Amino acid sequence: MAKSGEHNAAAYVDWFRAAAPYIHAFRGKTFVLAFGGDAMLREDFVDLVYDINLLNALGVRLVLVHGVRPQVEERLAGEAQYVRGRRVTDAESLEHVKDAVGSVRVDIESLLSVGLPNTPMAGADIRVASGNYVTAQPAGVVDGVDLLFTGEVRKIAVAAIRDRLDGGEIVLLSPIGYSATGEVFNLTLEEVATHAAIDLGADKLIFILDHGDDAADKPISRLTASQAQRLLKELPDGDMKLYLPHAIQACKKGVAKVHLVNAEVDGALLLELFTHEGVGTMVTRQSVENLRPAGIDDVGGILSVIEPLEHDGVLVRRSRERLEQEIGQFFVDELDGLIVGCVALYPFPEAGAAEMACLAVAPEFRRGGRGDALLAAVEEAARAQGLARLFVLTTRTTHWFIERGFVAAGPDDLPAPRKAMYNWQRRSKVLVKSLGVA
Ligand SMILES: CC(C)(COP(=O)(O)OP(=O)(O)OC[C@H]1O[C@@H](n2cnc3c(N)ncnc32)[C@H](O)[C@@H]1OP(=O)(O)O)[C@@H](O)C(=O)NCCC(=O)NCCS
Repeated sequence: MAKSGEHNAAAYVDWFRAAAPYIHAFRGKTFVLAFGGDAMLREDFVDLVYDINLLNALGVRLVLVHGVRPQVEERLAGEAQYVRGRRVTDAESLEHVKDAVGSVRVDIESLLSVGLPNTPMAGADIRVASGNYVTAQPAGVVDGVDLLFTGEVRKIAVAAIRDRLDGGEIVLLSPIGYSATGEVFNLTLEEVATHAAIDLGADKLIFILDHGDDAADKPISRLTASQAQRLLKELPDGDMKLYLPHAIQACKKGVAKVHLVNAEVDGALLLELFTHEGVGTMVTRQSVENLRPAGIDDVGGILSVIEPLEHDGVLVRRSRERLEQEIGQFFVDELDGLIVGCVALYPFPEAGAAEMACLAVAPEFRRGGRGDALLAAVEEAARAQGLARLFVLTTRTTHWFIERGFVAAGPDDLPAPRKAMYNWQRRSKVLVKSLGVA
């Protein structure tokens, strides 16, 4: 018992430490978190509330969007009429929608108000802001049927929501909107959440799915918007199929990351947000990034990335002429037509080794994994040439390489022709990585 207790304690400590970078990264960021009315009927809904409380405590600016589908259906007497998947909301159903929204909202506010000492909410003192933040318009007549009080989002009161978030409050949006004519319209939670995320420029939009994708044994953990578009055609009906189009829309309109998380997995939200692998599906914008071998036209772009580093002495100076001669050894990372990173590979086939040099990413594009991607590209190219070791000479970036599997070596370990050129004044550190080929 004691042993397993120790094991748990060690796992807890490891996990907590590993969460630190995420805690730094999330502070002050805006997340829109959407969950259906079904989520609230689950016994473990309170755990989601605890996780919301935790994100709030970590300084995440939270906008919650709740649904009411089962709560409305429960109140409706007869069969609802649907047109292209949208329910027609007549005057009577609208009363049920208002009733359900009111009651669900109060329930959520009450759960977020808990502050009992024996719960994770102890000391929380959360303020929840809700109100007329969503303006709606009628969806109109579809296929000859008037959808009546079924509406569409017209506008999100971005400035007002930001004010509340600035004041440390959690904003709670319901799937209803108000019009300038004083009417109320029934909206879908996914539409409200998507619009809110886009208009607020949210850093993340998170959909809690009531059920995972039954067709897949394991959810696909990462998708670009265009991969998601292709996948959509193959998906069976279900939550994934319902939410994915909204995830794609949000990505295309500037939301950096959309997460689809299965409510059935215990702690899914935390695992998705605080671990690298996650447990749900993350959709990101299709990037127009291209890591490729360099051509002569890239010389100017490469110089603009490396020249400032040469001035600082981080990289050894290379003339334009030398760069032009060696351009065939370079790889570049091009983003929207701009060269944002580069790296060179100089093979020494007799020594079964290659030198990686001139690895650089323009400052404003750092910390996006581009250094890693460039390193992976040269490693692959070296492996393809049957080379077993990759060298790098660096003065200031030793740790970056060590963290990526390089180990300290010395000038004597360099291939002979390279050793002959070693600059003893510069005294660069020599690091080597085994590429695992014979
Ligand atoms: C090293 C470099 C290429 C990394 O590019 P990048 O696109 O930011 O790389 P990644 O996003 O893959 O990695 C970023 C991580 O490396 C870390 N890092 C950056 N420079 C570092 C250094 N000198 N020492 C240790 N770690 C460093 C960052 O802190 C970041 O860590 P985090 O994600 O834990 O916060 C970039 O910082 C650069 O151009 N540096 C100047 C040129 C240079 O030193 N080149 C190597 C000499 S050959």
